[in-house]
Amino acid sequence: MQALILAGGKGTRLRPLTVYTPKPIVPVVNRPFLLYQIEILSRAGISDIVLSLSYQPDKIEDLLGDGSEFGVRLRYVTEPTPMGTGGAYRFAADEIRETTIVLNGDILTDLDISDLIAFHRNQQAEATISLVRVEDPSTYGLVEIDPESRVKRFLEKPAKEDVAELGMNTINAGVYVLEPSILDLIPVGENRSFEYDVFPKILENGKAFCGYVMEKNYWRDLGNPKSYLEAHRDFFAGGISGFVIDRSAVSDIATAALVDKGSVIGTGCVIKPGAKVTLSAIGQGVHIDEKAVVENSVIWSHTRISAGAEIRNAIVGRSCHIGRNATVTEGSVLGDKTSLSDYTKV
Ligand code: GDD
Ligand code: MG
Repeated sequence: MQALILAGGKGTRLRPLTVYTPKPIVPVVNRPFLLYQIEILSRAGISDIVLSLSYQPDKIEDLLGDGSEFGVRLRYVTEPTPMGTGGAYRFAADEIRETTIVLNGDILTDLDISDLIAFHRNQQAEATISLVRVEDPSTYGLVEIDPESRVKRFLEKPAKEDVAELGMNTINAGVYVLEPSILDLIPVGENRSFEYDVFPKILENGKAFCGYVMEKNYWRDLGNPKSYLEAHRDFFAGGISGFVIDRSAVSDIATAALVDKGSVIGTGCVIKPGAKVTLSAIGQGVHIDEKAVVENSVIWSHTRISAGAEIRNAIVGRSCHIGRNATVTEGSVLGDKTSLSDYTKV
């Protein structure tokens, strides 16, 4: 069994965070995001993983290397131009010889992939997609299944009226099990989407196409800043089973600073007396001066937060400078190297 992670998107909805950092390696609780996917694959005994890249591939490859550091074997396939999700799978065909787990590279989940594979085998399916229930399916792929778990309909980004009319809320969770025969449905060298082209074609061809509903698992698409911040909140609230937060980093935290137990502090940070950090992820080498406040926020590495500054419910990129008594409020997302002068409010 092998895996292909689709990680070639530009991550436009996560801008400005993804201008210099491709979405797959955006840090989540101070860890490159893809490591969470590699971890759930490893748990299911899958160590042969192909990364399908297009946007800033070198940054991803430089960081993850051959995967040996994480106990897996990583290979890279880079499209010269993005070929769409289905086209990217076809483009990687030379590396695909057997049943493959295909993952959207921006899904944070603790799905048990062994259970998904067992379901696929029991159903004798050629393609299985994982499904999850959400409140508003309109920004996802809506999937209708019958009582035997066969997929009946796949509607990508359905109109609100369609959602209301169909009365379903099971959406494509972005983890598939595909037999290599699915490759034959996708033309070589052309841009194709799983969602708009390949899935409808599987249905047309009457192949065994099943949906596996995740009932108890954590699931989130990290595609926009709001959801990125919410993923951190979920972590701090203890909501993601199986992923252990690494709190072993060594930093210089003043005894008179207030850092709560929920927060995660990277290595080489300096936190001065009177500073307060609550439910936040602080990247490595961050400097937080006297009486600064960081609450429900994510601060990337090497940022400096000057005395008396306050950051709440916000994301601050790498190597930023937040001036004295500046205020960064709910929903702000500061790109790398942003500099806010003293007393600025954003
Ligand atoms: N290699 C490669 N090439 N990867 C791509 C390309 C491409 O041309 N286009 C997109 N990807 C990758 C993205 O990097 C991302 O990890 C994944 O494919 C899905 O693309 P998104 O752009 O994030 O899609 P989405 O979130 O709007 O919708 C998809 O995910 C939903 C679940 O989060 C769809 O699969 C929906 O049906 C699904 O519900
Ligand atoms: Mg997405």
